[in-house]
Amino acid sequence: MKYLYANWKMYLDVNESAQLAEGIEKIAPVPGYEVAVFPSALAFTRVLDMLKKSGIKVGAQNVAWVPKGAYTGAVSALLFKEAGASYALVGHSERRHIFGERSEAVRKKAEACLDAGLIPIICIGETPEDKEEDKRMYRLKKQLRTACEGLPESEKGYMVAYEPVWAVGTGNPCSPADAEDVIGWIKLELKNYTQKDVPVMYGGSVTPDNVCSYCSLESVDGVLVGSAMAKSESFEAMMKELRTICTV
Ligand code: PGA
Repeated sequence: MKYLYANWKMYLDVNESAQLAEGIEKIAPVPGYEVAVFPSALAFTRVLDMLKKSGIKVGAQNVAWVPKGAYTGAVSALLFKEAGASYALVGHSERRHIFGERSEAVRKKAEACLDAGLIPIICIGETPEDKEEDKRMYRLKKQLRTACEGLPESEKGYMVAYEPVWAVGTGNPCSPADAEDVIGWIKLELKNYTQKDVPVMYGGSVTPDNVCSYCSLESVDGVLVGSAMAKSESFEAMMKELRTICTV
């Protein structure tokens, strides 16, 4: 099984999200691929209702770790689970770098997802400065260790997305060979933290033109895509490309 996940960020209002859901609901599935979309919290239930019969899963872009209570502006992992979410992104680089989310908060969110029965997708990635200073592996190891070491083993487990900050939304993707190397290393590192096989996907400037070069690599379990899957034409183009390489 490989994964094609679409993070809609804050690109779309509720009507635009519903229109996109209507468009993608009709696209034939790609054998061997699971597709999921991550709409804004406002559009979440509408999109989920529209995609119910399609097999496309719906997830949260961010969660609060406390389940319920006096937490103004927060929506918890538990509330998303009750609303029908399957997954939640945690530690996306935009949360870390724009909203100042620390690795400790990412850890609490991952735990809250597991408690609530959601599969967390733990996003990690080095900054351009880390890369320049040769601190890529140092950064990734630190982020992985804080988020994953000693996480309770759950039946469904968790996933990791390797999203170098310099590649997200920049049009400057990590080369497939480089992504393959880093993801191979992440998988080895994860063996220190869990007995389970953790799917690891790549994200950062994935487009219909380059998606196959990532998804055809054995160690890359799929892609997490932002802008290129927030429009119906390129969403469809992405699936069309993957159909050319699917082997199932
Ligand atoms: P991008 O975003 O595809 O627009 O680079 C990826 C992500 O943020 O997950």
